[in-house]
Amino acid sequence: MPATIVVGTQWGDEGKGKFTDLVARDMDMVVRYQGGHNAGHTLVVDGQTFALQLVPSGVLHEHTTPVIGNGVVVDPRVLLAEIDMLTSKGVDCSRLKVSGNAHLIMPYHQELDALHERHLGAAKLGTTKRGIGPTYADKAMRTGIRVQDLLDPKIFRKKLEVALDHHNKVLTKVFNRLPIEVDAVADEYLVGCAPRMSGYIADTVSLIHECLESDGNVLFEGAQATFLDVDHGTYPFVTSSNPVAGGACVGSGVGPRDINRIIGVAKAYVTRVGSGPFPTELSDEVGDYLVDVGHEFGTNTGRRRRTGWLDVVLLRQAVRLNSLSEIALTKLDVLDGLDTIKVCVAYEAGDERYRYVPYHQSVFHSVKPIYEELPGWKTDISGITDPDHLPAQAAAYIEFLESQVGVPIRLVGVGPGRGQFLDRAA
Ligand code: GDP
Ligand code: IMO
Ligand code: MG
Repeated sequence: MPATIVVGTQWGDEGKGKFTDLVARDMDMVVRYQGGHNAGHTLVVDGQTFALQLVPSGVLHEHTTPVIGNGVVVDPRVLLAEIDMLTSKGVDCSRLKVSGNAHLIMPYHQELDALHERHLGAAKLGTTKRGIGPTYADKAMRTGIRVQDLLDPKIFRKKLEVALDHHNKVLTKVFNRLPIEVDAVADEYLVGCAPRMSGYIADTVSLIHECLESDGNVLFEGAQATFLDVDHGTYPFVTSSNPVAGGACVGSGVGPRDINRIIGVAKAYVTRVGSGPFPTELSDEVGDYLVDVGHEFGTNTGRRRRTGWLDVVLLRQAVRLNSLSEIALTKLDVLDGLDTIKVCVAYEAGDERYRYVPYHQSVFHSVKPIYEELPGWKTDISGITDPDHLPAQAAAYIEFLESQVGVPIRLVGVGPGRGQFLDRAA
């Protein structure tokens, strides 16, 4: 009953979607365990691009069952639109299962997310404005509405009345907005979404365990990333869920002993969207080069991503926080044009040197990265599929990272396409 987790090791957009699709070749089930449609996971298959927000990246394989676990927050309008988009491209979504315990993103969550950001002004977090934070807040307040409530109109309406009684006070009295009508939301969700959603709603905990018990292979697909984790990330500049590997257990209903392979996905440089500290950030021509060559614009929001050199301090911390058994290194090809490549191997702050992330935010905000400089390879590697054919400098770069981080780098991405990767263990 082998189970694998794919988790982001930086601030998101590392290429989790592409590597989930790759690893899903050998999987019976692919499970999303947290986040919502703040995620944007891109797969490029036979020249066709798929940008997935909610549907697990295993959906393109006909033999896998895609599952949306209890830890995910679901906007049913977005989910149904994504299913329609995939269906129009010839992808069969009929196997999809959605946990009845997952929480629903409601229209007022989305409005509150945007209003809260505006209220913060210069201190804004730079959220995706998808309603993620307010939905998880309602879950913790125990005033959330769950996917299973769509199956019971009476209960749905009752919970909606309680929620709107509170949120309408906030909308009208704090933010001077119009109240949201119970009937309008009930219509949109119960009449517009529930009949179609009902075919996908399931007891996903039992389905996952039945798969594991019959020796099936299950893959857990993380969204966001380790340093966007609400507990372990750069709080408050984080998302509102637990993307770390431990979150896969909570967000899907399996215990830690079920997991035996944990793949941390790391980009060969670092990007970040939204606000927050970023020690190796570049605001020079190398930063612009990484944006241009790496096409570093948000899959969902179109926002320009901030870019910087690879940060091994973050990776070492990610190895610890996620019990990584290996790293998948992505976008190595983006470094093809650089004469030299820097890697941050430690931080300095005051008289202290740090190999791991300092726990106090004031220290983290003030650290100076210590770099090692490696020679570039100045060769197009995007067509290489055999690791033995990599230029010596590229192979040395990978080995240097392995020695710094302490776990093997098995899969290496050399382009966005499904076949553009190297398996160093093969
Ligand atoms: P995710 O959120 O972690 O799934 O990553 P995104 O899909 O948001 O962003 C990663 C981007 O890099 C996508 O456009 C992918 O198609 C692309 N990509 C993934 N792996 C590679 C790679 O090895 N090389 C290149 N050049 N692009 C890649
Ligand atoms: P994938 O799965 C990159 C960032 C937002 C913001 C912060 C909080 O594609 O890697 P939220 O809307 O979650 O409350 O925003 O988190 N963020 C992401 N950044 N990739 C993502 O997902 C992200 N999902 C959220 O930009 O800084
Ligand atoms: Mg993304």
